Amino acid sequence: MPDIDLFSPLQLGPNLLQNRMVMAPLTRNRSTPEGVPHALNVEYYRQRASAGLILSEATCISPEAVGYPLTPGIWNPDQVIGWKAVTAAVHAAGGKIFCQLWHVGRISHPDLQPNGQLPVAPSAIKPAGDAITLQGPKPFVTPRALEIEELQGIIAAYQNAAKNALEAGFDGVEVHAANGYLLDEFLRDGSNQRQDSYGGSIDNRARLLLEVITAVSEVCDIQQVGVRLSPVQPFNDMRDSDPKTTFTRVIELLNAFDLAYLHITEMGSDAPGAAGPFFSPLELRALWKGIYMTNAGYSKAKANSALQNGEADLVAFGVPFIANPDLPARYRNNAPLNPPDPSTFYGGAEKGYTDYPFMS
Ligand code: PHB
Repeated sequence: MPDIDLFSPLQLGPNLLQNRMVMAPLTRNRSTPEGVPHALNVEYYRQRASAGLILSEATCISPEAVGYPLTPGIWNPDQVIGWKAVTAAVHAAGGKIFCQLWHVGRISHPDLQPNGQLPVAPSAIKPAGDAITLQGPKPFVTPRALEIEELQGIIAAYQNAAKNALEAGFDGVEVHAANGYLLDEFLRDGSNQRQDSYGGSIDNRARLLLEVITAVSEVCDIQQVGVRLSPVQPFNDMRDSDPKTTFTRVIELLNAFDLAYLHITEMGSDAPGAAGPFFSPLELRALWKGIYMTNAGYSKAKANSALQNGEADLVAFGVPFIANPDLPARYRNNAPLNPPDPSTFYGGAEKGYTDYPFMS
């Protein structure tokens, strides 16, 4: 059995990761209203640079991609300047950071959209639940189904965002195709009922994701591109009639790309069947030819066992990294962890963001 644990380095394409602990992408709603990262965000990421790899919080690729207040963007020069300070701080502290590229699709609201327009989606299907607006929760609206002619513009926005991310000093990008946002809405048949070449068969539903990856790989080394999927995640009112068959085929299709990694969150495994007939997302690991990142509720012991058994090459930790900026050192020293304060996860300032103590 190979002697691999969380502290084993990993060569990820051009990036040498100092350990196998990834900071999961975490929405914190602390950018400026213009979606520009600022000094407080620089400090937050700098504090967490001992992760083998930081995945940025989900970052909007265009004004239409926005679905929550105070989330960052990467579509304009001011945002690139803001992110440059973040990546420089992470690099100066010896870390690596990828930018998670995000379009929320239908998980938005006219209040968050340019000119108060409707959010866009594969199909005009309203998700159950509320959008989070600056005035608080408001019921989701029925989104506008994208015209097939508009998809080239979406793909171009992903490409522009990836180009900007590299200019901003990111070491790579993660294409967010999970958790009920636009690309996931295309993948799963609960949200995609299109009759054209982007709906129906699994290959059609995966077409937009594959075209986005192709476009992004024209401006990045493909070994700087990761993809995140969430096959059993019911969040954002998502479901599929046959998740196992859908995602098995998606992974076969992704195997044609020499991606940096595939990141599959197991979120939803605690509500088996809520997103469709249940299967364990870990079954997909055996199908994937490259580096595999897993996520959701891993302890140090469970993570080390997954690495040793070959169930994963990298493990992403979310909440533990919120509360413990020095999580790798704590795990290495078997030190106790700071408890997280969920009331400060979304929005606010320093409290619950940059004021969690380091180990003494
Ligand atoms: C959220 O803001 O609630 C959120 C963002 C991105 C995710 C999941 C949740 O992938």
